Amino acid sequence: MAPDQRHRTPAAVVCGLGGFLPPQVITNDDLGRVLDTSDTWIRSRTGILRRHRAEPGTATSDLAVEAGRRALKSAGRDGEDAVDAVIVATTTPDRICPATAPAVAWRLGLGTVPAFDVGAVCSGFLYALVTARSLLASGAARSVLVIGAETYSAILDPGDRSTLAIFGDGAGAVVVRAGTPDEPGAIGPAVLASDGSGSDLISVPSGGSRDPFRAATGDRADPYFRMQGKQVFRQAVERMSECSRQVAERSGWPVEEVDVLVAHQANLRILQAVADRIGMPRERCHVHLDRVGNTAAASIPLALADAAGEVLRPGHRVVLTAFGGGLTWGAIALTWPDVSPA
Ligand code: UT7
Repeated sequence: MAPDQRHRTPAAVVCGLGGFLPPQVITNDDLGRVLDTSDTWIRSRTGILRRHRAEPGTATSDLAVEAGRRALKSAGRDGEDAVDAVIVATTTPDRICPATAPAVAWRLGLGTVPAFDVGAVCSGFLYALVTARSLLASGAARSVLVIGAETYSAILDPGDRSTLAIFGDGAGAVVVRAGTPDEPGAIGPAVLASDGSGSDLISVPSGGSRDPFRAATGDRADPYFRMQGKQVFRQAVERMSECSRQVAERSGWPVEEVDVLVAHQANLRILQAVADRIGMPRERCHVHLDRVGNTAAASIPLALADAAGEVLRPGHRVVLTAFGGGLTWGAIALTWPDVSPA
C-alpha cells in the first residue's frame, strides 16, 4: 500500500473497555467437594485458584450486555448512535440460531445497527477485533463494539474434572473507533491463522449438523465440551509464541521492548512457556487466570480490563495473542491508549 493511501485508510483505535463477571465464585476446594480433584492439583497444573459461574437462567447475552454497557460508558458513548456495529465473539451463544449479537445490540439500545457473531473459540475476540478493524478501514463503520462473552458452565460435563477445573464464565468488551495509525490505542500488525486438521481436539461433538441431536441416540449423543488437553497444550505454546514474535517484528519492536503480553488465559504453564520461548521476562506476561480461569473468547478483553487497572500505562507496547479450538490462533500488536475500564 502506498504511504499516502495508508494515511487515508482509517486505523482502528481502542477507546473504551469493560469487563463483567457473574457474582458466583467457585473455588478449587468447592470443586474438590464434588469431583475427584484437589486445590493442589488444579493450582500446580494450571495456576487457577477460582472461577466465576453464571447462575442457571443466565445466558451469554446477559453477560455480554453488562460488559458492553461498561465498555460504552468507558468510551463516553450512549444512545442509538453510540456505535455503528456490534460483534460478539462466543463459543456459547444463547441458542444455535439466531446469533447472539442482535439481541445484545437491541438490549443496549443501539437501534438497528448490524450485529453478528464470530466463532473462533478462544481466538474469537482477536478474530472479532480484526473484523472490526476491516469495517473501520473500509468505511462501513466509524465505531464498533466488540464483545467476547462466554457461559462455558452451560456446556461443561458435570463429571469431567479436566474441563470443569479450567473454564469459567464472563464477558469483556472494547469499543474501537476510526482514527489514525500513529495515535495511542491504534491496532497495529495482526496475524490470524487456522488449522482445521485439529478440529477434533477441541469440540462439542453433538448438537450441530454433523451429529444432530435428533439423530444421535442414547449413549452416542455428546452435548458437552471436550478437549484433548495435552495435544492442545503443546500447540498453544508453539503457535502463540510464533505469532507474538511475528507481530512484534512487524511493528519494529524487539521482543524485549514489548511492555505487556496479554495472552489467552488458558494455563499459567502455557503463559510462562510462551514468555520463555519469545525471550520475554515472565512478569511482563499478564496473569488473570488465577482469579477467573479460562474464559475462552472473553479471556483477552477481561485480562485487558484487569491489566488496565494494574500494569498497563498509556503508550505501552502491548501484544495480544490467543489459541483455541478450530484450531485457530492469532496475535495483534497495539500501543495502549489512555483508557480506563468502567
Ligand atoms: O483454551 C483453549 C486452549 N486450551 C488450552 O490451551 C489447554 C491446554 N491444556 C492444558 O492446560 C492441560 O493439558 C490441562 C490443564 C487441561 C491438563 O493438564 P495436564 O498436565 O496436561 O494433565 P493430563 O491431561 O495429561 O492428565 C494427567 C492426569 C490424568 O490422570 P492419569 O490418566 O495420569 O491417571 C488426568 O485424569 O491428571 C488427571 N487430571 C486431573 N486430576 C485431578 C486431569 N484433570 C484433573 C483434575 N484433578 N482437575
